[in-house]
Amino acid sequence: MTDNAATAATEPAPTSGIAAQAARRRTFAVISHPDAGKSTLTEALALHARAITEAGAVHGKAGRRATVSDWMEMEKARGISITSTVLQFPYRDAVINLLDTPGHADFSEDTYRVLTAVDSAVMLIDAAKGLEPQTLKLFQVCKHRGIPIITVINKWDRPGRHALELIDEINTRIGLRPTPLTWPVGIAGDFHGVLDRRTGDFIRFTRTAGGATIAPEEHIAAADAHAAAGVDWDTAVEESELLSADGADYDREDYLAGRSSPLLFTSAALNFGVNQLLDVLVGLAPAPSGGRDADGNSRPCEAPFSAFVFKVQAGMDSAHRDRIAYARVYSGTFERGEVLTHAGTGKPFVTKYAQSVFGQQRGTLDTAWPGDVIGLANAAALRPGDTLYRDEPVQYPPIPSFSPEHFAVARGTDPSKHKQFRRGIEQLAQEGVVQVLRSDRRGDQAPVLAAVGPMQFEVAVHRMATELSAPITLEALPYQVARVVSAEDVDFVNQQFSAEVLTRTDGVRLALFSTPWRLQTFIRENPAVQLESLVAAEG
Ligand code: G4P
Repeated sequence: MTDNAATAATEPAPTSGIAAQAARRRTFAVISHPDAGKSTLTEALALHARAITEAGAVHGKAGRRATVSDWMEMEKARGISITSTVLQFPYRDAVINLLDTPGHADFSEDTYRVLTAVDSAVMLIDAAKGLEPQTLKLFQVCKHRGIPIITVINKWDRPGRHALELIDEINTRIGLRPTPLTWPVGIAGDFHGVLDRRTGDFIRFTRTAGGATIAPEEHIAAADAHAAAGVDWDTAVEESELLSADGADYDREDYLAGRSSPLLFTSAALNFGVNQLLDVLVGLAPAPSGGRDADGNSRPCEAPFSAFVFKVQAGMDSAHRDRIAYARVYSGTFERGEVLTHAGTGKPFVTKYAQSVFGQQRGTLDTAWPGDVIGLANAAALRPGDTLYRDEPVQYPPIPSFSPEHFAVARGTDPSKHKQFRRGIEQLAQEGVVQVLRSDRRGDQAPVLAAVGPMQFEVAVHRMATELSAPITLEALPYQVARVVSAEDVDFVNQQFSAEVLTRTDGVRLALFSTPWRLQTFIRENPAVQLESLVAAEG
């Protein structure tokens, strides 16, 4: 595993320049509602690309020990994946950069940030459940950002809905036209294999013990498929023809424009259909194409180095209490040790501590190309949204902040830790663990923490106690919605019943209201007061 990870993460030196290296990269995230099988699929992809030798190695599922991604104690205790992981591995001639996202809906803010760093997404759907709330929210973020989506219908080995019904649901509910590349042979719960709609072949899968190893697959020509799969094959062919008649065939332009979505059927737990997904990612998903700066100008892959910090993660290794900033490369090559410029401050930034990260495994990273993710250790100066560049200045657009729905006053439990308290709260704000709001009325000793999901608070409390040496208590505040308000309306809003204005660390003034209903009433009664939503991510 370590060897594989090290080789996977430190790519051999380039043979034919930046454009060729960029063209090999596929940088994507898997988005799904919790429990659809994201961790299982991530494992299966790594297994099929031979980056790991046995499923269970990345997330420690099925009673196996966590080895790669479950670094936080809370994660272990709850058995969920809170923090995002980056997995890089070679597959055929390509290099896969899989940006893992938190499984729990309360950490959706983290997931949104990861989506600022990908070129495409895989939308994973549970065959029995279809589109679920978190899938819908994440789909909206992808749509908003113009991220092309490959859809995967998972858990086909278990009883579920009819394939045509699922296609119809995606089409009608989110306006994304599925163009199936494979079609299941056998209904959900009776999965023999798939019809490869591009070749017409039957791909038959065979189960392996516990799904821990790659499932053998056989490619059977259409002429022999009926003999192999019986009427299930005939049904699959009929349904596939129906799809073609309906225009549901793959179209590259529509896929890249976000109008249609190539679709596949899998059983991640049995490793069925995973090879096909890898091939589709390599064959169809877009390669990095440079970046677009805050003014909308494009910076091609071949331009001098530039990268965008999309996430800062601390406390990954309790022995070292370190802090890693993850930066996605948009242009140029990265060489460890080079001095870059931090666009926000204009200060030099030394990259001696660049690391590749494969789950929890670390290796020294010497070179990176567009599409790759660099882990920069102990980069106290970096925060999400920062740009790093060499030679030609560039500033990428900031990461949008998402509308918090939970608010609580933080107080240090030990008055002698006053300094640590201030520093700790500042650090949590910088990393984007929570948003931090203040007002003169509440004072500096009682900042208000704001979160999209309440579990962010648990992380904040845990980090303050264990890592930042300033334990805190939280007192929940009775607010549920926040809107941006301008300076001249602050006093007026503060005089209202069940509303209050606080200023976020970045200077944005947020008016908090007790309920959405209260907010609506306020808007109706005070049309002159300008209130703006934080971000359209929720759609
Ligand atoms: P998530 O990261 O999206 O939250 O989902 P995760 O992979 O943890 O999968 C959630 C549950 O669904 C797990 O079961 C997992 O084994 C199961 N699962 C994932 N893919 C498939 C599939 O293709 N077929 C079937 N039948 N099950 C699948 P669990 O009971 O929660 O955990 P475990 O006991 O299997 O570890």
